[in-house]
Formats: sequence, structure tokens, C-alpha cells
Amino acid sequence: MLFSGKIALISGGTRGIGFNVSKKLIEEGAFCYITGRNEKDGHLAETVLGENARYVPTDTTDEKEVDNIFHLIDSNHGRLDLAVNNAGVTTKRASVRELDIKEWRRVIDINLMGSLMMMSRQIALMSKTEGSSIVNVSSCAGVLGQPRQSAYSTSKAALNMLTQVAAIECANPPEGQNIIRVNAVCPGPTLGGMNTEERLRANPESTQEKIQSTAMKRFANPEEITATIIWLLSSQSSFVTGSLLAVDGGFTAGKF
Ligand SMILES: NC(=O)c1ccc[n+]([C@@H]2O[C@H](COP(=O)([O-])OP(=O)(O)OC[C@H]3O[C@@H](n4cnc5c(N)ncnc54)[C@H](OP(=O)(O)O)[C@@H]3O)[C@@H](O)[C@H]2O)c1
Repeated sequence: MLFSGKIALISGGTRGIGFNVSKKLIEEGAFCYITGRNEKDGHLAETVLGENARYVPTDTTDEKEVDNIFHLIDSNHGRLDLAVNNAGVTTKRASVRELDIKEWRRVIDINLMGSLMMMSRQIALMSKTEGSSIVNVSSCAGVLGQPRQSAYSTSKAALNMLTQVAAIECANPPEGQNIIRVNAVCPGPTLGGMNTEERLRANPESTQEKIQSTAMKRFANPEEITATIIWLLSSQSSFVTGSLLAVDGGFTAGKF
């Protein structure tokens, strides 16, 4: 098993990609803390994932709640080995001209500031042990500008830069602390999560648009995103840090 005895924290582990990653980590021997705001979803996910999962209701934009989960992990284990900052939201499509500033702030707050708060605490705790790894779940929309998705695209582009800056800092830690690798995956349109069958059927035009946006002309399965995240968390990627790994069926490969 890849992660026997390791302690992991997956933000947004209650649904979609985050749930899939948590399931795989547990299969590979890790104990997983999962977060999310909806407690019903959280408790259901915890039950399905079994005894090696613990749901802690946490809004990643709430500093007190974020401090609470890190205090809990530190007092229970004194360590954190693996972290996936996956909690994220999209928004209704709108042009910059049609700006809804409240909605823009919500997206930046969750996708960027929430991940930043989590990373800051993760780095402090994870630097106590060797071989730690952080993976941020970004998006292909943070690599190529997406019209009418300014808040989402900008939040993910900023998350990519934050990943790279943190990777450089964590590759040269202060005396007595350990290196932490920090990477991001940039998924293309992925089934489940934000793209449930119900939502795709209700919006046939945008579903077609998403399919056509990849060179491979299909959605990813969550397992395809999970496999890359697992690789980045594992020692198999021991010389990989500061990478923004596209898992997007060719979405960002060029114009076609
Ligand atoms: N699905 C795709 O096509 C796709 C493509 C590219 C990138 N991504 C990225 O992949 C990540 C996961 O997407 P998904 O499709 O799996 O979405 P999803 O099913 O909607 O899951 C999002 C998860 O994040 C949690 N979350 C949202 N806001 C939060 C907050 N403020 N604090 C704590 N948890 C929060 C949600 O729980 P609560 O709502 O209960 O808080 C849920 O567990 C996102 O960052 C997304 O941008 C997805």
C-alpha cells in the first residue's frame, strides 16, 4: 500500500473529485480527514468511506473553523503527511461587463483565499515530518482564459501561481524543518461533482461545449483525475514540485 499510516486532509472530500481521492487514499492505507460545509453530505461520505475517514465540518473561508481542524489533527496525530486542497465552486456564466461583484468575491474567497488559508496551516504542520506533499486542485480554466468565467478562471490562475510560489518556499525550508512538495492538477471537464448526469442533461448546449473543448472529445472520469493526484502525493513523484499538471484530454494543448 502506498500510504500506510499516513494522515491526509482533503478539503471538499464529501463529494465529487475530493470524495474519489479520499476513497483511493483510504484503500492505500491512509487515514483521511475530509471537510465540506454541508453536514448531511459530510456524515454520509464519512459513513461510506468507513472507519479510516473522519468528517470535520469546515468552511475553508472561515479562519476559526480552519484553525479548529488543524488543532484537531495536531492534537490527535502531531503530524499531517498529505493534503489535497480541492474545495472549490463555479459560478453562473457572465461577462466582465455584467460584473456581479458579490459573486466574484465569493469565488475568489473559496477557490483562492480558502486554499491559501489551508496551505498556510498545512505548511506549518507538514514541515515537522519528511516526505509530505500538497496537491491543489486547480482547473484547465486557470491556464486558458475562459470567456464569461472571469472569476473562476482568475481564481484558478492565481491558485496556480500560489502553488508555484509555495513550492519554491517549501523546497528550501528553514533549518530543522522538512521539504514539502507542492503541486497542482488542472483538470478538464470531469464527470460527477460539478457535472452530474442530471445537470448535463438539463444543459445540453453547455454539455456539448464542454465535450468539444477537449481534444479527446469527452469528459474525464473522476478516477482519471484521482490517479494523477495520488501520483503527486506519493513518493513516485519525489522530484516533482511546482508543477501545474494538466489532466484535461488536450484542452490546453492548443487551438483545434
Ligand atoms: N468537475 C469538473 O469538471 C472540474 C474541472 C476542473 C476543476 N475542477 C475543480 O475540482 C474541484 C472539485 O470539483 P467537483 O466537480 O468535485 O465539485 P463538487 O462536487 O461541487 O465538490 C466540491 C466540494 O468542495 C466543497 N466545498 C465547496 N466550498 C467549500 C468551502 N467554502 N469550504 C469547504 N468545502 C467547500 C463541497 O462541499 P460543501 O458544498 O458541502 O461545502 C464539496 O465537497 C474544484 O476545485 C473544481 O474547481 C472540477
